[in-house]
Amino acid sequence: MSTEAPIRLFLSGPMGSGKSSVGRAAAAVLGVPFVDLDAQIAIEQGASVRRIFEERGEAEFRRIERETIRRMADRPGPVVIALGGGTVVDWATRRYLLQRGVVVTLRAPVAELIRRLEGARDRPLLVRGDPVPVLTALIEERASAYAECHGVIDTAGRTIESIAREAIAIACERPVVVPLGERTYRVEIGAGIGTRVGDRLRQAGVAGVVVVVSDSHVEQPWAARCREHVAAAGYDAASVTLPPGEAMKTIRSVEAIWDAALAAGIDRQGAVVAVGGGVVGDLAGFAASTLLRGVALGQLPTTLLAMVDASVGGKTGFNHAKGKNLLGTFHHPRFVLCDVDALSTLEPAERIAGLAEIAKAAWLDGEETVAALEHDAAALRSGDRAAMIAAIRRAVALKARIVADDEREDEGRALLNLGHTLGHAMEAASGWQMRHGEAVARGMIVAIRVAQRIGYASDAEVARLERLLAALGLPTDPDRYLGPATFAFVDADKKRRGREVRFVLPGAPGHTRIHPIALTELERLVLGGA
Ligand SMILES: NC(=O)c1ccc[n+]([C@@H]2O[C@H](COP(=O)([O-])OP(=O)(O)OC[C@H]3O[C@@H](n4cnc5c(N)ncnc54)[C@H](O)[C@@H]3O)[C@@H](O)[C@H]2O)c1
Repeated sequence: MSTEAPIRLFLSGPMGSGKSSVGRAAAAVLGVPFVDLDAQIAIEQGASVRRIFEERGEAEFRRIERETIRRMADRPGPVVIALGGGTVVDWATRRYLLQRGVVVTLRAPVAELIRRLEGARDRPLLVRGDPVPVLTALIEERASAYAECHGVIDTAGRTIESIAREAIAIACERPVVVPLGERTYRVEIGAGIGTRVGDRLRQAGVAGVVVVVSDSHVEQPWAARCREHVAAAGYDAASVTLPPGEAMKTIRSVEAIWDAALAAGIDRQGAVVAVGGGVVGDLAGFAASTLLRGVALGQLPTTLLAMVDASVGGKTGFNHAKGKNLLGTFHHPRFVLCDVDALSTLEPAERIAGLAEIAKAAWLDGEETVAALEHDAAALRSGDRAAMIAAIRRAVALKARIVADDEREDEGRALLNLGHTLGHAMEAASGWQMRHGEAVARGMIVAIRVAQRIGYASDAEVARLERLLAALGLPTDPDRYLGPATFAFVDADKKRRGREVRFVLPGAPGHTRIHPIALTELERLVLGGA
């Protein structure tokens, strides 16, 4: 089994939110070291935070703070660290902490924060005048930095111990964060977590009709259960059950969702929740982005492909007679719940096909992730839950990282198309008789062979990728699907720019790059002609 990283819990939030007391309590429960960042800085610098502010200025304090937190977070082993109120304002520090461990933001109403801070003389930012406007402005200024975290805990009226327990639960579960400022959302991965949908709707501020969209393969039991949880949370749940399959990914299905939502009286406080594979997710996402110019979206993906790929990243859309996904929008979900229980009713071949996206993500990520996947291949092939949860988490984390750096598909996000240029073409040439994941697996083999021919990948790397895909139960036989007919579909691919394709070229794990290449040259390299 894959080994999980040690718990590193970073508590963030404004002054008075309880970072130090909660951190100390959490560290005691976990039996791990506790670091209070401000206290650590004071010890190392031989001066209180307030004195450093006064004598050396805020910029110098922030520099010391950046350097100290890096050093503390870099240390091996588990730890709980109470951050300073402004530590996460620095973009690079924030992103680093999100990668390195679990960031939990504590919050409370300003009046409560002020009450807790009464008598505190060591808060440099509070000596500037009336604390209410100062603290309110500070929290507003930092809102998007505080939002980029693995979990937010409302602390008002709660005991230190119960807050610490909740923070520990978040740290143990390690949701994946897609850090997009105040549009940040989390991908939760686990068994039985679909029950959280009501809570997540409430946290997203949804206060109106909730339209649950599914297809007839997932209606029972998954969408029906989702509606029960939605109703139990006090929402009116409307329902749309589409016929299944890629052929139904059309404007007609979008209209069915629009009609049901409007008939149910949806308003701007309403939401659309997708329960299904990538087809349902893309359709429901598009409907959510267009209804009343945008309502909240929740994703409960039920295929492996939708869990690791389609539900994360904000792309929505539907097909046109001219090609797949030619119409669409960007509309990020407010939450994603990957309940691996849903995979139990999925056809095994469908689940195996989803492993192609996991293999793709691993190859993009690097050696450690590929090695973990090689180690767990047999367990994943048989559907082992723990292996599945770990593999989904790694793949989603990679996608989240890429999306956060490159929301609208430029260089970074285009890497996610590894295996897709030829994969899509083979899928289309087969008359969509091939599963998407099977096509991606074959497309990856073609891609690494192209890389080998131009000297970017070694023979050993080609063999390693083939072995990995085979161990996962995926097809590694692209040759019989390749021919001039397939290239007619590459030509139709929307990723082409003029007569050039931005081909995604895999080398060693972690060394994939975009390689612009003329179509004719690509055809020659793939088909091996002169
Ligand atoms: N938005 C994105 O970023 C993104 C990324 C990748 C793929 N996609 C899209 O995703 C789609 C492919 O997704 P998919 O592979 O999930 O296909 P899908 O949604 O068609 O699901 C595959 C089949 O499995 C059934 N199914 C789903 N969950 C089930 C369950 N738990 N039990 C039993 N049956 C179940 C479905 O009814 C369908 O028949 C494509 O349209 C693709 O364009 C989107």
